Amino acid sequence: MTLSVTKIGNTFVGEVEGVDLSKPLDDQTVEDICQAWWDNSILVFRDQDLTQEQHVAFSGQFGELQGHTVKDWLLPTHPEILVLSNRGRGGVKPLENGGAYWHSDISYEAVPPMGSILYGLTVPPEGGDTLYADMYAAYETLDDETKALIDERMAIHNYKHRYMMMAKGDKRPEPTQEQLAEWVDVRHPVALAHPDSGRKALFVNEGFTVAVEGLDKDESDALLQKLYAHSVRPEFVYAHKWRPHDIVMWDNRCTMHSATPYDAETYERTMHRTTIKGSPRRQAAAA
Ligand code: SIN
Repeated sequence: MTLSVTKIGNTFVGEVEGVDLSKPLDDQTVEDICQAWWDNSILVFRDQDLTQEQHVAFSGQFGELQGHTVKDWLLPTHPEILVLSNRGRGGVKPLENGGAYWHSDISYEAVPPMGSILYGLTVPPEGGDTLYADMYAAYETLDDETKALIDERMAIHNYKHRYMMMAKGDKRPEPTQEQLAEWVDVRHPVALAHPDSGRKALFVNEGFTVAVEGLDKDESDALLQKLYAHSVRPEFVYAHKWRPHDIVMWDNRCTMHSATPYDAETYERTMHRTTIKGSPRRQAAAA
């Protein structure tokens, strides 16, 4: 198989051609995809036709898969697949605004995922894009004073505040006692050294970051707002306009993403996501 990777404009996104992801991939092809993923934080594959088994099998070549704390959104037949659908397909509860806020997937766990692989099954003709922000660029373009302020700091992440906020507007089920016990504060560096590249990326997000340690609430809120606004400057953002059967895979440690609105009364938007477990960061970075 000859894989070709073309950078999309002046971005951190590569479009990959020449590979059918429904077929078992040989070692060289997996290595080439890994290299392309290393060179571009996001990869786009068009016109793929995968069964659920094939989606899981493709994803599993990059690491162990993980589910989600809200089991209602996992496909009963393939719990490695998270269903983001306003129509609630496959026996899964509808989820209209699932990813419609800036976040890095599951940053509220002690070891955040390495990445996610999102398959667009049914997409609206307008809206429902996914925006991706380059968090390496966001960190690298901060002024020296801000870098000095954040470089050794940790931020607290927790899923609870996001879930409760979304539950009000989106009719999410009441959290169970088990979930509430699971949703504890975790700490990650504000500027995370990527476990593979060693490059620093901003690692705070509107979705799940609660506070920056060592600052009072007003200072922490002001700093986070400033970092969020900086991270999503247009020059750091790629907007993926979905076509049915696109697959997008992203590195979760150096990007964040947000879905854009669409007319959910009129159109269906059904996406399947697999999530690849991350590796623990080095202790030095966690100190
Ligand atoms: C996600 O947040 O993982 C999904 C984003 C999307 O639905 O576009």
